[in-house]
Formats: sequence, C-alpha cells, structure tokens
Amino acid sequence: MAPIRILGLSAYYHDSAACLLVDGRIAAAAQEERFTRKKHDERFPTLAVEYCLKEAGIGPGQLDYVGFYEKPLVKFDRLLESYIASAPRGLRSYLMAMPIWLGQKLWLADEIRRELAIEKDVLFGDHHESHAASAFYPSPFEEAAVLTIDGVGEWTTSSIAHGNGAALSMIREMRFPHSVGLLYSAFTYFTGFKVNEGEYKIMGLAPYGQPTYLDAIRDNIVDIHEDGSIELNLEYFEFVHGLTMTGAGFERLFGGPRREPEAPLTQREMDLARSVQEVTEEVMLRMARTAHRETGSRKLCLAGGVALNCVGNGRLLREGPFSDLWIQPAAGDAGGALGVAYALWHRYLGKPRVSAEASGGWQSAAGAATTAVPDYTDAMQGSMLGPAYSDDEIEAWLTSRGIAAERVDRGELPERIAELVAAEKVIGLFQGRMEFGPRALGCRSIIADARSAAMQSVLNLKIKFRESFRPFAPAILREHVAEWFELNTESPYMLLVAGVQPSRRVAPPPGSETLWGIEKLKVARSTIPAVTHVDDSARIQTVRRTDNPLYYDIIRAFYGLTGCPVIVNTSFNVKDEPIVCTPEDAYRCFMNTGMDVLVLGSLILTKAATPPSARAEHEAPTALHKSL
Ligand SMILES: [Fe+2]
Repeated sequence: MAPIRILGLSAYYHDSAACLLVDGRIAAAAQEERFTRKKHDERFPTLAVEYCLKEAGIGPGQLDYVGFYEKPLVKFDRLLESYIASAPRGLRSYLMAMPIWLGQKLWLADEIRRELAIEKDVLFGDHHESHAASAFYPSPFEEAAVLTIDGVGEWTTSSIAHGNGAALSMIREMRFPHSVGLLYSAFTYFTGFKVNEGEYKIMGLAPYGQPTYLDAIRDNIVDIHEDGSIELNLEYFEFVHGLTMTGAGFERLFGGPRREPEAPLTQREMDLARSVQEVTEEVMLRMARTAHRETGSRKLCLAGGVALNCVGNGRLLREGPFSDLWIQPAAGDAGGALGVAYALWHRYLGKPRVSAEASGGWQSAAGAATTAVPDYTDAMQGSMLGPAYSDDEIEAWLTSRGIAAERVDRGELPERIAELVAAEKVIGLFQGRMEFGPRALGCRSIIADARSAAMQSVLNLKIKFRESFRPFAPAILREHVAEWFELNTESPYMLLVAGVQPSRRVAPPPGSETLWGIEKLKVARSTIPAVTHVDDSARIQTVRRTDNPLYYDIIRAFYGLTGCPVIVNTSFNVKDEPIVCTPEDAYRCFMNTGMDVLVLGSLILTKAATPPSARAEHEAPTALHKSL
C-alpha cells in the first residue's frame, strides 16, 4: 500500500517551519530561517517545504494531507473581540493588524494551495492541540499528562491534556489575555530585550538578581490561583490594545521607564528577571500539580514557548509530582508543524500509535549515581531531522572553491577531534542531519573544552562576538551525568537546568563576592567553569551513543584523554544569525570568526591551511557587541 504523507506547516507569526510525516514517522522537519538565513523567519516556509519533499523524493502532488498548525479565523475572532473590548484604545493596533489579516491570514487555505501548487483541502489544527500533539505523540510515553504553555494561540494560552496511546484529550485551558508567556514577554520587553527572542536572556539574567519585586508583581500584576491558572491585571499591560507590551503602570511600579535595548543593564533588570522567573516557576509547578491531579499520570510532556524555560523545567522535575518529564525540543511554534502533522495522523485518520515506551523507564532526578542507564527511545530521532551532506558532496564543494582539507578515516575522527578540544582549540562541528528546534545538539555545534577557565571569554569574543552574561552549555556522556550534575535522567535536548555536583564545585577566591554583573561569571566556580552559571547551575545535554554515535565517541575520547566526560556545546552561528545549515554556511562562519578548526563530515579544515587572502579578509572582528 502506498505510504500516507502528511505535511505540517507553521507560519506567519514567528519561526515558520515544515514537517513531513510518512506513515506516522517523521521523515523531515526544518525551520525556514535556516534556509533563508533570516533569524526567526515567519514567512511561508517555502524552502523548508521544498527540503522536506526532496528528502522523501516526492513532489507536492504526492502529499495526501496538508495541515496548518492553528485556525486563522478563530485567531481573527480574538483580535476582533479584543478590539471591541478595548475600543477605542485599541484602534491603532487594530488598524495596523487588519491589512495583514484581511490580505493574507484569512485566506490562508488559498495562500497555502497557491504556495504548494496543489488543489487539495488544507486542514487547520488548533494551536494548543498542535503543541500538545508535538509534546505527546513523539514522546517515549504510552500514557502521560500533557501541559502546553505559551503566549497565545487562537484564544488559549495554556492547556492540560491527557495522552493515552493514540488518544489525546484536552482537559482544561486558560484563555487570553491571561497568559504566562505574555507575562514573561512583558518583562522581556520592559528589561529591554526583544519579545519572542530575549526570553532566554531573562532566564539567564535571573541568577544575578534578587527576587525583590516578587511581592510587587503578585500584589499588583498577577493573581496566581491554586490550580496554576492566573489572572493578569490588564491595567498594567498594553498588548491588548496597544502596540507595546507594557506602559505607565510598569514604569510606576518598577521605578522608571523600560531599559532601552542597548543601554547598560542595571541591578533593577537583574532583580526583575529573578522575580518574574520565580513567578513563572511557581505557576509552572502549580499547573503541573493540577495536570497530575486531573490525569493521575506520573509522566509529563511539555511544549509551548514557556517549555523552553529550562530552569523552570529543572524545578518541575525536582519538585513537581511527576517522575518523568519529556519536552518537545521544538517547543515553540516551529514545533506546531510537527504537532499538526501528528494530530492528523492519529486524531484525524485514527491511526494507532506504535509505542516507543522505554522498557526500563527513566530514572528520576537526584537518584544515585550509576553507570547502568535505562533504555530510552522517543520518536524524534535525536531531533536530527534536517538536511545532511555526504563527505563526497562536501569534498566536491571544497574542491570547487579551492579549499584545502584533510579527509580523515571515520574511525579516527573522534580521537582527532577530542585531541584538538583537549588542546583548547575551538571546533566547528558539522555532522549529519541538521537539528530541528532552537538548540544545536552536536550536528551544527561549536564544541570546546569545558575545563578551560578562559573558554567563556574566548568563545564569546572570538566566536560569538558578544559578551554574554550566560554561560555555555555542557554536553555530557549520559552514563556520567549524575557524577557531575544534580541530575540523573535524560536531557537529550538541552532543556533541563540542574546544579553542578557540589564535589565538582570550587570555592570562589576571596573578594569575589563583591563582584558585580558579568564579572561574577568570570570567577571559576567548578572544575568545568566554562559551563557553570553564577548560581552553580548548568543547562545540560545528555548524550547517548544510540542518538548520535560520532558525537558520543568524541566526548568519550575526550573523557579518555582528560578524565572529564563534559564538553562545551554551543550553537554553530554568530549573534543574530540562524544556526548554519549547509557546508557553505559553516565555512563562512568559520572564516568570519576566530574558530580554530572546522570539521565538515570527515573533512578537517584548519585556519593555517586556508588561503591567507581569505584569512586576512575574515579574521580579527572589530565590532564586539556588549550585552552587559
Ligand atoms: Fe505557541
């Protein structure tokens, strides 16, 4: 029988994406930004669709179903009602939004058919159901509670569902304008970061602050109910009727206007970040308890933009009622493309779910250190769902450009790379299929020595061209995670934060307690200082050989050389650029930064071997961006 091919799409808001499901298995998924090189590109994912079809060797005419991740008419209804409720205050934002809605979004089915050059019907999922489907169906659980939290979809801002086999029942929802995501985004805006992008920075900034605004936020801005639902005091928010997130209310409450985006950070922003982070964690915990109570499940799946709050996720695992937690790696709206495709397969077509449940189950947080690691399989294929390039393709491209490279035997590659990492070289690692979702997981990564005290600064200044207040993230062999971190479970997608084991911490030198801001990050707090935050935490990626053999073998070889099973893993890009997709993107990034070595498949390039003219052109960046 011919396979059933479903194309899932998300677009027109933030980070558009396409996903192709063939007989219920993910054949391909990618974000449009990687191809267009425009970060968070929200346009129709033409190139991502083209890639997905190419991967399966089909044309658009061979698609059986096409699904879009949300319902534009219902979203329009929300915009209209919000306008009526706040008229005439909302007139300006209404008038701004209308031309886009009338011209494009309402006629989306026609638009999609035209873009794909197909005649068939386009099916529309519900925004939060798409998130819920993306969280549950590819998870390793046969049965689980499902929690989605984000800014807003059509009307829903958060939902609780129960997944069991192919069934996914929506149980509860919270509705616009009451939204944890929008609350967090309001503080992102007020502290001078970009909404939908800077939320991660608030989370990274929080450990520098004190929760001094906690009471002010709870007394004035948000009511947190026992069940985790919240009520925002709309007097403080402008997003319902204005073009900004916050207004005079925030200014009164927090002692002055918002920080201008490039202005220096002050203690106020740090304290605001800490305070809103704590509020968010509290809400997440309460929501999780409600999800547990309503479903009786011991397992939880998470998606929606707030599920990228890995500090909150770490707390959920430690303090929440669930023994196991699985987070969709593309938790934001890009993952909606995957979710709607899964929803069509299981819910619309009624296809059974083939269980990927681990035979031994997972271990929970803070369990005893062990090298006996339970089996684990989800359906995300390590989130390596994007384009790959063979060694021959890479070599042909390098040759065509006259670029010298050494082709190394695959078996020798891990040892060679590990030696370079141990020698404190910064390596661009380009291997196999590109990751789907915001994190690089070893396929489009920059890797380095986590033990190096200088590596933070080297990576920030020579590679990323920024001075960040966030540390880099560690990748660790799964079987060693409990020896190094206060975690003993899977974190394959780098979405859990936990403490560095006290035995690995070192006492900061005398006088360092008086340091302020980013200076705190420069103090070595552990034997892996490049990945340790100022509160001794780390955003952890656990690596299994089954997920990514070469990546695992590199870390394993590094462990053999140094006794340390931890390396730095940061995304292969520079500030304001999407993660690299092609060998050409990787080469350009390599040449434009102070990276020492580039490994493209089995081909190794070093700066010394590249043409001097190219080096002179690209080295020594002058414009350092200072975030702090
Ligand atoms: Fe969303």
